[in-house]
Amino acid sequence: MKDLFERIIKDKGPLGKWAKQAEGYYVFPKLEGPISNRMSFNGKELVTWSINDYLGLANHPEVIKADGEAAMEHGMAYPMGARMMSGHTQYHEQLEQECAEFVQKESAYLVNFGYQGMVSAIDALVTKHDVIVYDVDSHACIIDGVRLHHGKRYTFKHNDIESLEKNLVRATKIANETGGGILVISEGVFGMRGLQGKLKEIVALKEKYGFRLLVDDAHGFGTLGEGGRGAGVEQGVQDDIDVYFATFAKSMAGIGAFFAADKDVIQFLQYNMRSQMFAKSLPMAMVKGALKRLDMIRTMPELKDKLWENVNALQNGLKENGFDIGDTNSCVTPVYLKGDIPEAMAMVNDLRENYRVFCSIVVYPVIPKGLIILRLIPTAMHNLEDVDITLKAFSGIREKLSGGIYKRIAAAMMAKSE
Ligand SMILES: Cc1ncc(COP(=O)(O)O)c(C=O)c1O
Repeated sequence: MKDLFERIIKDKGPLGKWAKQAEGYYVFPKLEGPISNRMSFNGKELVTWSINDYLGLANHPEVIKADGEAAMEHGMAYPMGARMMSGHTQYHEQLEQECAEFVQKESAYLVNFGYQGMVSAIDALVTKHDVIVYDVDSHACIIDGVRLHHGKRYTFKHNDIESLEKNLVRATKIANETGGGILVISEGVFGMRGLQGKLKEIVALKEKYGFRLLVDDAHGFGTLGEGGRGAGVEQGVQDDIDVYFATFAKSMAGIGAFFAADKDVIQFLQYNMRSQMFAKSLPMAMVKGALKRLDMIRTMPELKDKLWENVNALQNGLKENGFDIGDTNSCVTPVYLKGDIPEAMAMVNDLRENYRVFCSIVVYPVIPKGLIILRLIPTAMHNLEDVDITLKAFSGIREKLSGGIYKRIAAAMMAKSE
């Protein structure tokens, strides 16, 4: 018999194998100072494009005040226990009601974390007789929720309606045999490449195939649609989304998430979602803080306007300078470049140390080998000077990348570390 840890120590996984070169810099970096458009990294001020604080609420004085007052009044423990047992309050209920109204649904249910909530909701919504059909580029929380499913599941090509329909035909055949139903899952906005899910086209297939639709709108909530009501409202199909999901971790600059749907569906989730039935409920500071944030989103449309002013300036500037930003139709701004992982590391090092720009870097295995995505998240906190600095920086690194400079630096760095 083998010691279980023998493998773990030898094989650290596709990302873990880079830990020695990457930790503290490319992964687990420490961004310091108030959350804003400029933050401190390794003691230097950088233009920061890697934080999903879309509306700039994270460090807003009114938000800090609301969080602080709630924490002073209740501490960070209250209420104790799961919602069902002893962790329920009128404020949890109020927040649910307000979230539901905001996204134009009958009812809502709070969850402590978006990731866990999604895994658990998928688990609760289907039985082994049901079939799940989901976008192949789905967020890990959807993939992991589907992993719990004991029945059939099919992926469709990313945002490809023809592929969705092909798989709906297969799913229908199985569901007819088992007597189950079909759950289709998409995202409002795909967080890596920035494409909105084709919700309108997906919804158009509902009548023919009779499925139910679950949409993860983590990046659409607060950023898209009238008043920030999300991708469903943006595309005019909110009523046809059967289960709507948004996290508080992005536009709401907090923690927690919610599902919104018809009353019966939400009641079912309340009584069957294991991640909430068997876990302590959200602390009051989070709940009261979320109420404040939601109120600000409702009453301060200028935040979303400012966000889009920055999104447009950044995305238009990148396009005018010949950068490939793919087909994004959301705030998420990917810049596609070609190169291997060591080259990408040398390039990001240069970007941070010499050009003073901090953005996320996405490489294999998240995307195919040989592709690098520098992912920028504009927020309402950014300004045109940030955009200008970034455009100049990107032109600089592109020239060096195509001239093979980063390849040579990476080779030298590798030789030194061996
Ligand atoms: C599309 C999507 N779904 C779900 C989540 C998970 O949400 P949370 O951070 O609240 O766990 C994220 C990331 O935060 C996300 O990008």
